[in-house]
Amino acid sequence: MARKVPTEEAIKRWDQHAERFTANYDEHGGIHREVLLNPAIFSLLEEVKGKRLLDAGCGEGYLSRILAQKGAIVTAVDYSEKMLEIARERTYEEVPIQYEHGNCEKLDFLVDEQFDCIVSNMVLQDLADYKAALSEMYRLLKPNSTFIFSILHPCFVTPNSGWIRNERLDQQYWKVQRYFYEGVYDQKLPLDSDDKIVFYHRTLTSYMKAIIQAGFSIEDVIEPMPSKEMLIKYPQFEEDLHCADFIVFKLRK
Ligand SMILES: C[S@@+](CC[C@H](N)C(=O)[O-])C[C@H]1O[C@@H](n2cnc3c(N)ncnc32)[C@H](O)[C@@H]1O
Repeated sequence: MARKVPTEEAIKRWDQHAERFTANYDEHGGIHREVLLNPAIFSLLEEVKGKRLLDAGCGEGYLSRILAQKGAIVTAVDYSEKMLEIARERTYEEVPIQYEHGNCEKLDFLVDEQFDCIVSNMVLQDLADYKAALSEMYRLLKPNSTFIFSILHPCFVTPNSGWIRNERLDQQYWKVQRYFYEGVYDQKLPLDSDDKIVFYHRTLTSYMKAIIQAGFSIEDVIEPMPSKEMLIKYPQFEEDLHCADFIVFKLRK
């Protein structure tokens, strides 16, 4: 049985961490989202104008705002009241978004088959019960519609993973450890802070099996790499040409 922490503890940490986590967010959601996640997510999204979208685990809401500006009718859910408070503060009335407090593992207040698309950006690795969340997303989607989600790439980002510097060879290597561990671990975020967020590690196989068991078919997968244009703007992303931080799935009901 994989080790878990109580949901109340995970929420408490997100509430405590919300200000610091979102302090460097801009309209793109910060540079990792601008360089890697957003291009992948937007390349997988179909026309959103006039469509009903759910942003599951919306955080401070940057993605909901982009989608609403593109004409989508957006519901945004998060279980951290503090995140929702920040999201509401950052959302102007001209961009109507329905923010709701809820746990993506069980969103009983939302009726079946109401969304044309669900996006969930960097949330599933935070969830204790990712299988319940996948089933919940399946329930909420209209038939033949899509669920796009990103997570930390489970093959590279594992408990204890990180860069190792070899001074003698003047090279650095990405270390992966405990890939087959399934369960909770604490992660400092930002890496140089003392604040710890609750993350869950699962193997890629576990994610794929859970996706299939929930009833979805996998339509597309992206392991985001920085584009040439982004590398000119942010040369520090050169290191992301060696291994993938994230993986993004497009699933169809
Ligand atoms: C890494 S942040 C990402 C936020 C946002 N999607 C973004 O890309 O900026 C993860 C968010 O998921 C929320 N979250 C984690 N587990 C959740 C759950 N079970 N139900 C609802 N929200 C959850 C956290 O409160 C946090 O706001």
